[in-house]
Amino acid sequence: MPTQTLPTGDELPQLGFGTYALDGEETTDAVRTALEAGYTHIDTAEGYENEAEVGDAIADVDREELFLTSKVLPKHLGYDSLIQSCEASLDRLGTDYLDLYLIHWPNPAVSLRESLDAMETLVDRGLVRNVGVSNFTAYQLDCAQHISDVPIAVNQIEFHPWFQRPDLVEFCQEAGVVVEAAAPLARAEVFEDDLLQDLAETYDRSIPQIVVNWALQHDIVALPKSSSPSHIRENLDVFDWELDAEDLAAIDERDREYPVYDTLTRDWSNDTYGIPR
Ligand SMILES: NC(=O)c1ccc[n+]([C@@H]2O[C@H](COP(=O)([O-])OP(=O)(O)OC[C@H]3O[C@@H](n4cnc5c(N)ncnc54)[C@H](OP(=O)(O)O)[C@@H]3O)[C@@H](O)[C@H]2O)c1
Repeated sequence: MPTQTLPTGDELPQLGFGTYALDGEETTDAVRTALEAGYTHIDTAEGYENEAEVGDAIADVDREELFLTSKVLPKHLGYDSLIQSCEASLDRLGTDYLDLYLIHWPNPAVSLRESLDAMETLVDRGLVRNVGVSNFTAYQLDCAQHISDVPIAVNQIEFHPWFQRPDLVEFCQEAGVVVEAAAPLARAEVFEDDLLQDLAETYDRSIPQIVVNWALQHDIVALPKSSSPSHIRENLDVFDWELDAEDLAAIDERDREYPVYDTLTRDWSNDTYGIPR
């Protein structure tokens, strides 16, 4: 599988298996299927409440062959809290280290400097190999890079044909930060797109394959999630063919600034964002 080289020299596989909203045994089954199919990169988070089940699925895998990402919730971004969250994730996952640990969402109520100091401690202790952020704007990412003593390797953001965020993607890539596409299939909503349906027919591929291939050709790491064994395998078959330049450009034109999860006004008071009064 093609990879992107991170500032530490570690190789990040271009395709990862997303695990959001997988629950219980469904998680273990889906991750096992993904590993058997050839995925080497798994994306989870403490907030997904499925790390123990991911841990069951990866137990028999050669750890060095796997790229494992988890994320810390924004309510746990204080120094001690972040370190405890990471230790708890490692315990649930049954592993000694994470290849990548992300701040899941920015939290303006907690000092970013404090969170990144905790990340540096985790790197120094060998618990985390690469540090990143998620759902950060260009401004927030720039601040993080300015104050962090460890490189910010990744920004995982919502990215799909209906929500392309060209300014943010360009900012990240020019800053040497790999963009990972969360919800790369727009949670199946983009399957309704007429152009994508036409391209799927032209290339004799599925719409998810067209969409993932388009993201990869933009040097964006894609993290499609599926609970279906056939979909899991299908989403991996995206490497030995390419969309033509004019078809890539045609998909670029489909942007409608339509987020499926990253709303511009969030309910900051709920438990996810960790900004209690
Ligand atoms: N950092 C963040 O805040 C954040 C936010 C969102 C997502 N993420 C990450 O990104 C991953 C992916 O995002 P997501 O799970 O929200 O949604 P997604 O991957 O965009 O879409 C998943 C949906 O697409 C369907 N699907 C997948 N492959 C298919 C195929 N080949 N044919 C037909 N349908 C298919 C799945 O149904 P089936 O299960 O039936 O196949 C599911 O309904 C997450 O799991 C998570 O790891 C991160």
